[in-house]
Amino acid sequence: MSKDTILITGASTGIGAVYADRFAKRGHNLILVARDFERLEVLANRLWAETGVNVEIEVADLTNKPDLARIETRLLTDPKIGVLVNNAGMGAFGEIIGADPENLETVIALNVTAATRLAAAAANAFAARGGGSIINLSSVLALAPERTNPVYGGSKAFLLNFSQALHQQVSDKGVHVQVVLPGATRTEIWARAGKNVNALDPAMVMDVHDLVDAALAAFDAGELVTIPSLPDAGDWNAFEAARLKLAPNLSRRFPASRYRMKEVAA
Ligand SMILES: NC(=O)c1ccc[n+]([C@@H]2O[C@H](COP(=O)([O-])OP(=O)(O)OC[C@H]3O[C@@H](n4cnc5c(N)ncnc54)[C@H](OP(=O)(O)O)[C@@H]3O)[C@@H](O)[C@H]2O)c1
Repeated sequence: MSKDTILITGASTGIGAVYADRFAKRGHNLILVARDFERLEVLANRLWAETGVNVEIEVADLTNKPDLARIETRLLTDPKIGVLVNNAGMGAFGEIIGADPENLETVIALNVTAATRLAAAAANAFAARGGGSIINLSSVLALAPERTNPVYGGSKAFLLNFSQALHQQVSDKGVHVQVVLPGATRTEIWARAGKNVNALDPAMVMDVHDLVDAALAAFDAGELVTIPSLPDAGDWNAFEAARLKLAPNLSRRFPASRYRMKEVAA
């Protein structure tokens, strides 16, 4: 039986290109999505020469509705696709005051809207077939909103929340969801958003190959939330336990006593 085809967005460089390399070396055919045809072609030729897998290129700007719809349709209609690596994303740094609103909207269009529509298409297709996997690239900044641009951090927090809820709805239909939260990783995303990654403490910056290999080890283990840098998985479990402890009290008939108006003395 032939292995699943892997559709990877943002595959022309960085994290997506390393996912392409690793899945090709596992013998999977690939569909690589990004805007830069030349880079995709160089990668596709190398992977085909090294591994013999079939590599297709889909040039698409995922902030462009017709392009996004084309990739969505491919996910919905191509029964060979068994894994979506929902990776294309862009950074945004700095203050929201003075930020270009058009740029903020583009970040949301790529990091939130495109990622959501592609994950939803994959979830529908995979659930109908009773199997498949969706890997969403979030960020540790989902957990550290104080450290980042509000729109970038918000977009990555959305993907974490979205992935946890998606898992809840599709895991019993044979669909595996993984959300990966990289810390700072040495890729072009920094320069593209006007930041020098070399200005960061090198002890905080992961090599992109190490990042993807760790994320794939966790994928193989069936993990839902993967934080490749975190030394003690118990810290995440404790964080989740604290969140879940809130659950019974998050929706009640009466406001908490600290919010009740004080009675005015006559
Ligand atoms: N690197 C980090 O420190 C870091 C940390 C946490 C999370 N992440 C997340 O990991 C994911 C990958 O990041 P990366 O570091 O590998 O970034 P990167 O090196 O900048 O690569 C981004 C990829 O997305 C593609 N892309 C960008 N805009 C696109 C668009 N409008 N339509 C289609 N494709 C587009 C780019 O290709 P084209 O230019 O050819 O379109 C490229 O292949 C992102 O979601 C990012 O938020 C990264």
